[in-house]
Amino acid sequence: MRLDIFTLFPQWFEWFETQRHVRNVVAAGSQVRFLDYRETTPLGAGQVDDSPYGGGAGMVMRVDVIDAALQAAYGDARGGRRIVLLTPSGRMFDDELATELAAEPDLTLLSGRYEGVDERVRDHLVTDSVSIGRYVLAGGELAAMVVADAVLRKLPGALGHAESALEESFSSALDGHPEYPHYTRPPTYRGWSIPEVLVSGDHERVRQWRRERSRERGAGEGTGA
Ligand code: 6GU
Repeated sequence: MRLDIFTLFPQWFEWFETQRHVRNVVAAGSQVRFLDYRETTPLGAGQVDDSPYGGGAGMVMRVDVIDAALQAAYGDARGGRRIVLLTPSGRMFDDELATELAAEPDLTLLSGRYEGVDERVRDHLVTDSVSIGRYVLAGGELAAMVVADAVLRKLPGALGHAESALEESFSSALDGHPEYPHYTRPPTYRGWSIPEVLVSGDHERVRQWRRERSRERGAGEGTGA
């Protein structure tokens, strides 16, 4: 995958870049770039935003600034490229969308700052608008990082063990349910014991137990149960 993340704060991603699954996918041939809107803004003094038409508080990211950034990176050859605007009013990000985006050969994430992004970006420059939850962040950088994290870890070679991304929370292998509980040594700690079935050596019973626990957790979804 060739992943580009556009941002006003590329230095925020310096930590992200060092994460093991990110380094693994890059070592396996993927490309991850962090691009700064200010480097390509057509306006003076690194300006990227402006006051909103109609008045009101806050600043809005300009459509010409975002268009120039995309133009500098891709020219007119955007055909087929998935370009995702991170915005609190977008489609809710979930495992299904992460899987969908992980299948893209070319993916672009646009983070915005300030009160918002000129609506013409959404109407004319992007293919998707995505939100990571029903709350408002100060900027799209953390949202872009969340999406990039969830997408990149699905790529081949991202994780240590090939199977660990398959039967995990919300995957189709678990019918969209959260993951079953995990336990490791010690078998008893402060009187808290692990479920006996896990040391029974009966793999079929283990599989069935995990499936049941996963389904139970799914029933409590959204309730914090
Ligand atoms: Cl994508 N951006 C911002 N600024 N806030 C959010 C969000 C995105 N998703 C949820 N809250």
